[in-house]
Amino acid sequence: MKQYSNALFIVVVLGYCGVAFAIDPPPAYVKHCASCHTADGSGRASSAIGKIPDLRSKTIVSLSDQELFGAIARGNGHQAYAHSFLNQGVSESELRGIEKYVRAIQSGSTPAVPVKPNSPR
Ligand code: HEC
Repeated sequence: MKQYSNALFIVVVLGYCGVAFAIDPPPAYVKHCASCHTADGSGRASSAIGKIPDLRSKTIVSLSDQELFGAIARGNGHQAYAHSFLNQGVSESELRGIEKYVRAIQSGSTPAVPVKPNSPR
């Protein structure tokens, strides 16, 4: 009986960890990005400044880490909305955390927020 309850304990702990593996968006992402790109990165088909791209799209996935950082920190190549968060009081380490979160969403290792299977890509 004792063995049985040990096994049960392990199953419960593993189950709990499984849930904890989904990464929540870092506070800096929630504060500076989620209003446009949404918590799960899916973006918006339309907004006051036009379409907000899906952060999991092929184009953004294929950016190198340096390009991704440059896009977020300095708005390299942006037309609709210049992301220059490095000049807007967001620290480099916060931006690195955001970058890590974007990569996690892209790899599918998180969605912190369930993604609708029929959401437009
Ligand atoms: C006011 C709305 C808004 C906010 C806030 C915002 N974005 Fe964007 N984002 C956009 C729009 C619009 C584009 C398309 C840019 C363009 O083409 O000019 C975009 C593009 C991007 C891209 C694609 C870059 C590329 O070179 O193709 C990335 C990555 C990105 N945003 C990440 C972020 C992150 C991370 C944050 C928070 C630090 C953020 N954005 C905050 C609206 C926003």
